[in-house]
Amino acid sequence: MARKSIHGQWSSRWAFVLAATGSAVGLGNIWRFPYVTGENGGGAFVLVYLLCVALIGLPVMMAEVLIGRRGRQSPMNTMRTLAEEEGKSLHWRFLGWMGVLAGFAILSFYSVVAGWTLAYVFRLGAGIFESASAVSVAIVFDQLVADPERLLAWHTVFLVMSTVVVSRGVKSGLEKAVRILMPALFLLLVVMVGYAMGQGMFTEGLKYLFEPDFSELTASGVLEAMGQAFFSLSLGMGAIMIYGSYLSSHASIVHTSVTIGVMDTLVAILAGLAIFPIVFAFGLEPQGGPGLIFKILPIAFGRMPGGEFFGVLFFVLLVFAAWTSAISLLEPIVAWMVENHGLNRVKASAYAGMVAWLLGIGSLLSLNAWSDYTVFGRTFFGLVEFLTADIMLPLGGVLIGVFAGWQMSRQSTMDELGLGDGFLYNAWRFLVRYVTPVGITLVLLNKMSDLF
Ligand code: PFF
Repeated sequence: MARKSIHGQWSSRWAFVLAATGSAVGLGNIWRFPYVTGENGGGAFVLVYLLCVALIGLPVMMAEVLIGRRGRQSPMNTMRTLAEEEGKSLHWRFLGWMGVLAGFAILSFYSVVAGWTLAYVFRLGAGIFESASAVSVAIVFDQLVADPERLLAWHTVFLVMSTVVVSRGVKSGLEKAVRILMPALFLLLVVMVGYAMGQGMFTEGLKYLFEPDFSELTASGVLEAMGQAFFSLSLGMGAIMIYGSYLSSHASIVHTSVTIGVMDTLVAILAGLAIFPIVFAFGLEPQGGPGLIFKILPIAFGRMPGGEFFGVLFFVLLVFAAWTSAISLLEPIVAWMVENHGLNRVKASAYAGMVAWLLGIGSLLSLNAWSDYTVFGRTFFGLVEFLTADIMLPLGGVLIGVFAGWQMSRQSTMDELGLGDGFLYNAWRFLVRYVTPVGITLVLLNKMSDLF
């Protein structure tokens, strides 16, 4: 039953691993992981995060890839086709819809943050951080986010970049972008950790990340750790599903998923190790919020030999990491518009980009002109980030797991995973049938009780 995707196929298994890692590794690892870790007190949060990646994230990733590869269409159509094939309710296609909604919403604020990153390439290049104090580095960030016109310009540039790549299609667009950039980013992060080891308070940083203090952990912290696992692995909204739909039938889903999960986690930990020693060395607070890396890393670049060069390189690579993630946020929507509305890729990408661009304006204004308007204490930006990462992605993930574990037949998933009927297959099935749904429900309920 070999279905073919009308959108093309990756040229090799390795190309899929690179593209999916490109999707997973992004602002979530380098911008979001350190700042949510800082807001949640460090070690205990990191431990819960790692558990979520291993016990919930990886099994859901395998489920997403296998569903995508079996359906070989956009998430909405894949869900409908597979539900039909398994004789289950066609309502499952709404799961694809929820993913699309989440995708637009994530892309809208993601692009704003990617815009900060673009802006920083030029700030570092201009050498304004040379020997700068922590206070003046922070002022540069505060000035940037207080200026809606500048934010809008960078947000626009980034969305145009993402839309252009997606409009070029699977092979010529997506694949090329990731081949060199991912390894380069990894190397540069190692250099940064090396600097933090020599110049910062490295042991303090290590302790902060790896010494769990459970008194620091709240119900919200657990929810955020889980949300961060989904966000960082790009799970729960169809991005990995659509990438799976371009994967050859011979590739091992387990090997590829584990490789992606390990690389993603390594990058997040490296980012933490590069940042926290510098936070402590300058007597700063880990709870720096979304501006954390923008207020910390330039201090280091301003002091290290060749800092201007390394600083520009780092932010350029971060832009690329964000870029390869943003294209995976657009891809499911674009594939669907091509399949169902007969649009060509260029038009579909332009329309999708426009919606995300408009939504993003809400996020960027909430940093300045609308900063006083809050719902449940969150600005528009904070609210969209919370609703998508912490609620919609885990919810989407659990439903994907439930579909693979309870709605698809044992035979279908066994065929797709290619593990036979041994321990590994049964462990996976147990995780998606029981551990994932129970775990996610408990965390969500626990958080809700926190509200009352
Ligand atoms: N995983 C990306 C990151 O860590 O930056 C963000 C992301 C991409 C989330 C794609 C969700 C997604 F579907």
